[in-house]
Amino acid sequence: MLVARPAQHVALSSKPSPFLIIVKDLKNIRECCHKLPQQPLSYKTILGVVTSKLYLYVSKHNNVAKRKILVDEESNLPSHQSVFKDEAKLDINYIPQQLPHREKEHRLLMEFFSFLSRYPERMAQRVIITGDVGTGKTVLAQHFGASIVSETNKRAVKLRYVHINCREYRGSLQPILHQAVTVFRPKYPARGYSADEVLSTLMQVLDEENAFMVLTLDEFDSLIDNEGSDAVYKLTRIQEMRQGKPQRLSFIFIMRDLKSLAHLDESARSTLQRSIINLERYGKPQLVDILNQRVSLAFELGAIEEDVVDLIAELAFTETGNARFGIELMWRSGKYADAEQVEMVEPECVRMAVSNIIPGVRRSDLAGLGLHEKIFLLAVARYFKENEQAYALLSEIEKTYAVICEEIGEQPNSHTQIWNYAQFLSKMRILKVEVESSTTRGRSTRISLLSIPAHELEKELSTSLEKVSR
Ligand SMILES: Nc1ncnc2c1ncn2[C@@H]1O[C@H](COP(=O)(O)OP(=O)(O)OP(=O)(O)O)[C@@H](O)[C@H]1O
Ligand SMILES: [Mg+2]
Repeated sequence: MLVARPAQHVALSSKPSPFLIIVKDLKNIRECCHKLPQQPLSYKTILGVVTSKLYLYVSKHNNVAKRKILVDEESNLPSHQSVFKDEAKLDINYIPQQLPHREKEHRLLMEFFSFLSRYPERMAQRVIITGDVGTGKTVLAQHFGASIVSETNKRAVKLRYVHINCREYRGSLQPILHQAVTVFRPKYPARGYSADEVLSTLMQVLDEENAFMVLTLDEFDSLIDNEGSDAVYKLTRIQEMRQGKPQRLSFIFIMRDLKSLAHLDESARSTLQRSIINLERYGKPQLVDILNQRVSLAFELGAIEEDVVDLIAELAFTETGNARFGIELMWRSGKYADAEQVEMVEPECVRMAVSNIIPGVRRSDLAGLGLHEKIFLLAVARYFKENEQAYALLSEIEKTYAVICEEIGEQPNSHTQIWNYAQFLSKMRILKVEVESSTTRGRSTRISLLSIPAHELEKELSTSLEKVSR
């Protein structure tokens, strides 16, 4: 009903420009929408509806001349300028040239590995980096990797920095080592060799190439959880098997805290705990600096004001000093500004963005799940959305899982598999899984959803599964 008004303008007169009238009227329409109980519509949506009504009107009257005017006018419409200059600079994989407030730790890493430039064959190093979520562990290691490679290259030392996230390989040593070998031997087969064999191939390849490697094992706790002390031995004792040969392989192990080391036996633990760099949580002023660095790279000049950056930093500070949260929130706020077709990122855009962000879980963690893990997690989300309960029995979730499988035309997996999914998601700290012994019902498994609102999780997973089924 609301959109009929501008359409009539156009129908009755082609002068002044029908689209300009619409643009003017958009504001009025939007204001009217604000008075309605529904969500306010964005300019883009209104424009879309208005345009389609216009075309309907014109085509109904079969007026070729009028249709031509409309098409011409549309191409003259001023298109909305994005607040972003280069939003890729806010991508999680972007590595900035400088890391504000991590200079000291960067220097320390360079010190620990300085032997690589001078006498690389004589030493190998093991360093652990710890720190809470979003404190810059991954980006610090990657930044260091780029610096040390360029430093050693100047001295004609053939060094490769390899960064592997253990969680992506489900904490399994063999594929992790395979990935390292493929840096030099891209066709090395993924299957058919044990972890020990792949490790000795890696050393052999490094010898053949007269090369050195700093291998960073990110989210190392997932490797410890999955493989235990054995894997740590294999990695750290490799040189003992090659007495007299050059040292070629150094390690950086990244984990949020040292708790998982408690699962290791004493001697495996002692091979690890040498140099530990702990990254303190960022304070608010530090987060402001980190965000400001991205503002100049990612946003148009003046598109985001100091106060708004301050607000985002404040929110990231309350989220445990998490820089990722701040950067993601800034990107989302920009997206809201663009969708609203406003010139600047307004505080309201930040508030809208923050209410739609998933705290406690990283989007990349969800993206890395397998199809049936996603379906299972969607079942958990749906269950808790529909039932106001803190706990659910695994058997109840299993029923919802089967329903979703049917909806998307997938064969449901066995109970054992479902149990494995629950265990895996519990290790990722998305779910909590408890086995209860009750005298009446025997043993039952209770599931609870930790720090993510069920409806947010459902939305995120539904979108991701839609993409898969398309
Ligand atoms: N000092 C910094 N300067 C610039 N950007 C930073 C800094 N610290 C962190 N970031 C950015 O914040 C985001 C999160 O950092 P990073 O991924 O390194 O955190 P993390 O400690 O590895 O977190 P997690 O424990 O969740 O893996 C990344 O986009 C990273 O580029
Ligand atoms: Mg990380």
